[in-house]
Amino acid sequence: MLIVGGEDHKTGQADDASERFGRLEAWTRDRFPAAEGVEFRWSGQVMEPVDGLALIGRNPGEQNIYVVTGDSGNGMTHGTIAGILLTDLILGRHNEWERLYDPSRITLRATQEFVKENLNAVAQFVDYATPGDVDGLNEIASGSGALIRSGLTKVAAYRDSQGVLHRCSAVCPHLGCIVDWNSAEKTWDCPCHGSRFDPYGNVLNGPANTGLGLAE
Ligand code: FES
Repeated sequence: MLIVGGEDHKTGQADDASERFGRLEAWTRDRFPAAEGVEFRWSGQVMEPVDGLALIGRNPGEQNIYVVTGDSGNGMTHGTIAGILLTDLILGRHNEWERLYDPSRITLRATQEFVKENLNAVAQFVDYATPGDVDGLNEIASGSGALIRSGLTKVAAYRDSQGVLHRCSAVCPHLGCIVDWNSAEKTWDCPCHGSRFDPYGNVLNGPANTGLGLAE
C-alpha cells in the first residue's frame, strides 16, 4: 500500500478537495506508473507553529504541565523527540533540545509570521458581509451543507442523508469567525484558527471548546 500526502491548505480556506485529490493522484501515477486503484482518500489536520518547529516542553507559565503539539505532520519524529525530552525535563536532566523546542520561545521569523497569520485571520471576518452559499434551504442536497444568510449573520445548514435539515449558527464560538462547509470531510471548518465541527455543530477540534450555537 502506498500512502501519498500533500496539497495542504489552511483549515476552512479551501473547499476544492476533489481537485486536490486529482493532483495528488496525477503526481503519484507520474512517479509510480504501476500503481493500481485508489483505495482510500481522506484529509486531516496538522498544527503548524509559526516558525515551523514543534512545541515540546513545559506549558508556558507551568512547572508540572507539559505539552507536545505543533507537529506540522511530523508526529512520528516529534513523538520520539518528546519521549526523550520530556523524560529529561521531568527528571531534571539537562537536554540540549530544551530551548530549541521550548513552547515559550519567540523568534524574529515567528513574530513576522505571527503578524501575517493574524492579518489572515482578521481578513476572514469579511465573511460576515458576503452572501450565503445558497439562497434557499431547498438548494441544499442530501448529505451536504451550506451557509445561508440570516440578517447580519449566517446559518450553517446541513441536510442529512434522510433529507432532514439541521441548522446551527455559523459563528465560531472561539472568536466569532464564520465557519465554512468542508464537502470532503463533511465538517464545518473555521478559517480563522482551525476549529472544526461535525455537520450538527458538535466541536471536533479546538481551539473552540464548545459546539456551534443555535441558529438565529
Ligand atoms: S474564531 Fe474560529 S477558531 Fe478562532
